[in-house]
Amino acid sequence: MELLSSSDDDIRRAAAAISAGGLVAFPTETVYGLGGDAFSSKALAGIFEAKNRPFFDPLIIHIAGLDALDSLVKWDALSSAARKKFDILIKNFWPGPLTLILPKRSGLPDLANAGLPAAAIRFSSNLTAQKLIRFSGRAIAAPSANPFGCLSPTRAEHVVSQLGSKVDFIIEGGRTDIGLESTVFDITAEPCRILRPGGISRDEIEKSIGPVEIFSRTDIPNDTLNAAQSPGQFKNHYAPRTPLSLHTSVELAALPVSQNEGRLYFSKPPDAVPGTVRILSGTGDMKEAAANFFDILHELDSLGLTCIRAEQAPQYGLGAAINDRLRRASAR
Ligand code: TXA
Ligand code: MG
Repeated sequence: MELLSSSDDDIRRAAAAISAGGLVAFPTETVYGLGGDAFSSKALAGIFEAKNRPFFDPLIIHIAGLDALDSLVKWDALSSAARKKFDILIKNFWPGPLTLILPKRSGLPDLANAGLPAAAIRFSSNLTAQKLIRFSGRAIAAPSANPFGCLSPTRAEHVVSQLGSKVDFIIEGGRTDIGLESTVFDITAEPCRILRPGGISRDEIEKSIGPVEIFSRTDIPNDTLNAAQSPGQFKNHYAPRTPLSLHTSVELAALPVSQNEGRLYFSKPPDAVPGTVRILSGTGDMKEAAANFFDILHELDSLGLTCIRAEQAPQYGLGAAINDRLRRASAR
């Protein structure tokens, strides 16, 4: 593995590796991705192997412009109502942290999307990601650059320590802006629904296209899941190695701090708390909290604590995505 800067020359080297079927970890505005040529079965297999990810969990395909859609999307399989929603959503949110489920063209290898009739497509706003895609001349399949089930990477060094030996290049892009993964939204379902809460909130989507449903099950044990049921709905996911439990503010205030415990508060607790305490946002700012989320969990996870007790976020805006990650991280 070689760590690259985000200069054009370095991105060109990484792009050449992608074109040759190699693997490159790169920054996006949400979290770092582990990318390979979406049309190369060899690269796709390499992604699953590097992450130790089950083949029935489909990947997100990253593009750097709308011109790439025609090679990926089977437009005639999209209803005119869904097409209207698509047009509004991409106008409002692309490039940005919204992944759309669209009927896929047969040229895309089944490995990319677990044999499902639809593919997840995302246009990241990160300029380095866009250049990597453009310079490689490919659509890039990229899950988050972490071993399956583990914390998502918000810094290049998280990728170095978690997947360093398994990739050709890692592009240094600093800390990611949003810090939580993209919202995965299925416009092919009727009614359309959020499959994974993320960087674009339900409110924002509903302001654009009207009411949507949330399909976010956390009750499916990992070993019984398959693609046909609901990809990406794993009960335990996004987990630190340190056991994590989830609490309301009231519960946390009543629980005495145990020996070598870590606490993760959404906002500043009213009374001082002894021991290892981290706060997602001192002022309760949702964006700041989201950006700090995985970053702080990585740090807490490195401290050798016996457990992490985390406070629920308010359930609005990005708070829904934070709580979704905390619920999965706390499931055992
Ligand atoms: O922000 C992000 O989305 C990051 C960055 C790197 O772009 N990527 C990411 O990928 O989080 P990953 O693989 O960790 O999560 C992709 C999610 C999974 O929950 C997967 O099941 C779901 O998207 N997904 C992918 N393709 C799908 C499909 N065809 N139908 C339903 N869900 C799909
Ligand atoms: Mg992931």
